Amino acid sequence: MSHNILITGGSGYLGGSLLAGLKGANLPPYSTLYALVRTDDQAKAVRQYAAEPLQINLSSPESITSTIINKQITIVFHLYDAIDIDNPSTFIKALSQVKQATGQEVHFLYTTGAKLFSEFAGAPTDKPLLDTDAELYAIQKKQVDTAPIPFMSQGVQANNLVIEEAEKNGVRAYIFAPCIVYGKGTGFGNKISIQTVGIVRIAKAVRKVYDLNEGKPTWPVCHIDDNTSLYVEILRAALQDRDIGHGKQGYYLASSGSVAWADIYEAMGKTLKERGAVDVEGVHVGPSVEEMGKMGEALGSPPELVRWATGGACTLTAENGAKIGWKAKYPKEHVLEFADAEVDWILTNLGK
Ligand SMILES: NC(=O)c1ccc[n+]([C@@H]2O[C@H](COP(=O)([O-])OP(=O)(O)OC[C@H]3O[C@@H](n4cnc5c(N)ncnc54)[C@H](OP(=O)(O)O)[C@@H]3O)[C@@H](O)[C@H]2O)c1
Repeated sequence: MSHNILITGGSGYLGGSLLAGLKGANLPPYSTLYALVRTDDQAKAVRQYAAEPLQINLSSPESITSTIINKQITIVFHLYDAIDIDNPSTFIKALSQVKQATGQEVHFLYTTGAKLFSEFAGAPTDKPLLDTDAELYAIQKKQVDTAPIPFMSQGVQANNLVIEEAEKNGVRAYIFAPCIVYGKGTGFGNKISIQTVGIVRIAKAVRKVYDLNEGKPTWPVCHIDDNTSLYVEILRAALQDRDIGHGKQGYYLASSGSVAWADIYEAMGKTLKERGAVDVEGVHVGPSVEEMGKMGEALGSPPELVRWATGGACTLTAENGAKIGWKAKYPKEHVLEFADAEVDWILTNLGK
């Protein structure tokens, strides 16, 4: 029996780009590609990628279980909620049942975020934190209690739960960590990312670019095409039933290296000024309380979370992808060289 795949989040930036990227990926043969959808328009749109639309009521464990079992789905890519502690175990248990019924290896990829490996989630940031570190699971277990922000603790718990449930149920799990992903989304839905979009939103709100960090913290970066190609390589390995490292050895960061936020602010700020989206040049410090309020409003979050959304320290470092033959096409400096195009792309697509 060949594999049946379910991709979720297909109307999103990462998931849409993944669906679009499958066409030219020259993957081994599989049976059916399903895409989770929530609307009729999405159902129509995913057919262009030769995907069968699938509606699942994600608030109903029965709906998830019966769909996975009835469709004999053997590979699930979860790309819709980085702090989901409810559904992964249901998907994993259902995949395990398919494995028992068919004898086929089953795979669950969970999309987390580099943020769950950052200062905001209580991760160490004093040296590179390799995604191949044999202690990474133990580190994440400790973070549950040390994460300074409660929903970050939930996200870390979600990662741990995926690994534990998958181990218990004989499912191969992969914890996929996107970082600052930038570049033109190629899917049918959302075409813009998160952090670079946050930088534009808050700058527009106060007509100035602020650096809220202390020191010059860095964060891993990745072009959307490279992020997609790591998803594809993991999918290729799953289709070939190749064991590339899963569970406690299955953390995958897609990144070509780390860049200082200050350099990203400066590069994007230059174009924001040229496009008239801010009034003053340069990167500034010390916003007023009123400005912090406006920046929070622009992100739909309290002012205390503005730096969380658009700054901070994360030393997570990509090693695992290279071990399975993945290589980034774009070097880390590209995020700075591309900053003007990124700003234009965001300004064009904001609010769409
Ligand atoms: N982009 C990045 O740089 C980045 C970095 C780190 C982590 N991540 C994480 O990766 C995931 C995907 O990111 P993204 O940039 O692709 O986000 P996005 O563009 O906002 O897309 C989110 C996707 O999830 C779907 N979704 C949301 N809630 C859902 C629900 N209850 N049931 C079914 N589908 C649901 C959305 O469907 P609708 O269109 O129907 O709403 C959409 O397809 C997110 O969890 C994000 O936090 C992203």
